[in-house]
Amino acid sequence: MALPTPKKHLITAALPYANGPIHIGHLAGAYLPADIYARYLRMKGDKVAFICGSDEHGAAITLRAKKEGKTPQAIVDEYHEINKKAFADFGIEFDLYHRTSSEIHHQTAQEFFLELNEKDVFTKETREQFYDADYNQFLADRYITGICPKCGHDGAYGDQCENCGSSLNSTELINPVSTLSGNTPVLKETSHWYLPMERHETWLKEWIEKGTLEGKAHHNPKEWRNQVIGQCKSWIDGGLQSRAMTRDLDWGVKVPLEGADGKVLYVWLDAPIGYISATKEWASNNGEDWKSYWQDENTELIHFIGKDNIVFHCIIFPILLKANGKYNLPVNVPANEFLNLEGKKISTSRNWAVWLHEYLIDFPEKQDVLRYVLCSIAPETKDSEFTWEDFQARNNNELVAIYGNFVNRAIVLVHKYYEGIVPEINVSLVEEYPEIVNQLNKQVLLVQEKLSRKQFRDAQNEAIAIARLGNKFLADTEPWKLIKTNSDQVKLILNLSLQIAANAAIALAPFLPDSSKKLNQMLSLNGLSWERLGQVDLVKGNVQLGKAEHLFQKLEDDSINAQIQKLENSLKSTEAESNIEPFKDNINFDDFLKLDLRVGTIVSAEAVKKSSKLLLFKVDMGSEVRTIVSGIAKHYSPEEMVGKQVQVVANLAPRKIMGIESQGMILMAEGDSGDLSLMQPDKMGTNGSQIS
Ligand code: MF3
Ligand code: ZN
Repeated sequence: MALPTPKKHLITAALPYANGPIHIGHLAGAYLPADIYARYLRMKGDKVAFICGSDEHGAAITLRAKKEGKTPQAIVDEYHEINKKAFADFGIEFDLYHRTSSEIHHQTAQEFFLELNEKDVFTKETREQFYDADYNQFLADRYITGICPKCGHDGAYGDQCENCGSSLNSTELINPVSTLSGNTPVLKETSHWYLPMERHETWLKEWIEKGTLEGKAHHNPKEWRNQVIGQCKSWIDGGLQSRAMTRDLDWGVKVPLEGADGKVLYVWLDAPIGYISATKEWASNNGEDWKSYWQDENTELIHFIGKDNIVFHCIIFPILLKANGKYNLPVNVPANEFLNLEGKKISTSRNWAVWLHEYLIDFPEKQDVLRYVLCSIAPETKDSEFTWEDFQARNNNELVAIYGNFVNRAIVLVHKYYEGIVPEINVSLVEEYPEIVNQLNKQVLLVQEKLSRKQFRDAQNEAIAIARLGNKFLADTEPWKLIKTNSDQVKLILNLSLQIAANAAIALAPFLPDSSKKLNQMLSLNGLSWERLGQVDLVKGNVQLGKAEHLFQKLEDDSINAQIQKLENSLKSTEAESNIEPFKDNINFDDFLKLDLRVGTIVSAEAVKKSSKLLLFKVDMGSEVRTIVSGIAKHYSPEEMVGKQVQVVANLAPRKIMGIESQGMILMAEGDSGDLSLMQPDKMGTNGSQIS
């Protein structure tokens, strides 16, 4: 009989920028769930290519290089190695951890671009873009920041706001600033290849909302996470726009066309193609056919990402794949929300993070503990939080007290009573302990169901419940007492306990691979096969067990406090660094005289619609009443502002903020933690009088 062809899966995890190390937010967001899913599928016997690698282009890299005074190549070489090793030590089992600086990637990305260009998927346009005259450089992406026009977040990038997830064009930013010089950029013309995304709205909408593609069922949209569909819908409903797919930069994949000197592919065009080039590389190293993973419609493509990557994986990359015509679109994009740390957002720049490579030094051989905790609190449906106290509690109360304790008691007792030889039984455990076996099977089904739905948090809970069941079974039956009166019964109890332990080893293997490997040896199992889950003859009678070792160790307060201290220290040092801004360069007196500072009185104030930050003022300036928009809604109510006398920069060129022309700026002082406080004259002045 021919065996059924195993199902094929191409699983990708977002390529992390090689501009810094990996932290727990990255792990909980994309890499751990992807690894759990890939391990589960492999154990089931499906064919899996699990692909990842370093994203080595884009402003994330070049800006880091500039900050450290190194070349971009030096930066990516350094972090590629660090991250590759940290992932491996953490038990993330990529089939390949590739690089987008590789030759095969550059080639693949260029070919992909050319093919699309020939199909007229792009339009070449000359438009105005922001330019930093001091640095002779066009500013896009992370080279420019400003206020997000959608949510008011100060610090949105030229292509994206990480606060609300919107995708932006840099010219939409309010108050744009060059991250190179800190100056307000000027506009200058340049030509680029644009992707007119609006052409794709109709099919995208159907694909996202109904899961159909060209009238045919493609995937079940009910399996997609609500927030993923929600975000996509709101972008599509807001109207998709044309976006530049090339950049004026010298670091990246060169645009392979005449007249494109000094231009490279937009990093968000080149990086997802990295999934394809990595698959090519892996396939050629392993005698596989890469096309069957990308172009065979029976292969399932799944992208694991964090929520800030949704637009790129659910809209832009699918447009490119579909426009090419030969590629599969993802059947699911399980994006996670964000993980916070001890009550605050994780921040790389403020060193508010738990770094994977440091964790692995501080807690050697404890990768499973971090995997367990991060999966327990995975931000699958909403943001969640990591605290060291919770980490300690889950280790001590769950891993040690339940899983570790159960397994250890069962194996130790077999060593004690039978010299480590599994007691043979000649009755059926299913008949002797129907309820326990039933419960075991119920748990097994739950684990499978949750895993196949990609609800990893629940799946791990259901898997650990198998160990809980075993623990309770031992506590209820008390073989250590029974051994004196009914030693036959003890054989059954311990045999069943070993079977439950073996089931736990299998069910928990995708989550806690290192512990399952140890348990596999202790129980002399010869491998863990998903197919056998639920059976109670996994550990054979008369077999010699391995030495009983503790799977987990209790974590004492000392080691936890040291971690909390480490975080507090980084908080202190960033505070010390950032408290006082360095002084700006000197200006001469003429420069100062150019500033026209005046006293004015606020005559009316109201909130700006759709903005949580902005207030709209009418300010009496003596000779005229000015309209001024100011970002102080978080610090002052409109009511308390009316009647206040303020200092105004009166000759700042008017600019539009959320559609309103602001004709000046009200001066304020910044206090701790971004608090703003009005600068008022000490005594009432005359409206319009000069400040000098
Ligand atoms: N480097 C990006 C980030 O860290 C992710 C790139 S995912 C890919 O946000 F699809 F572009 F590869
Ligand atoms: Zn925003």
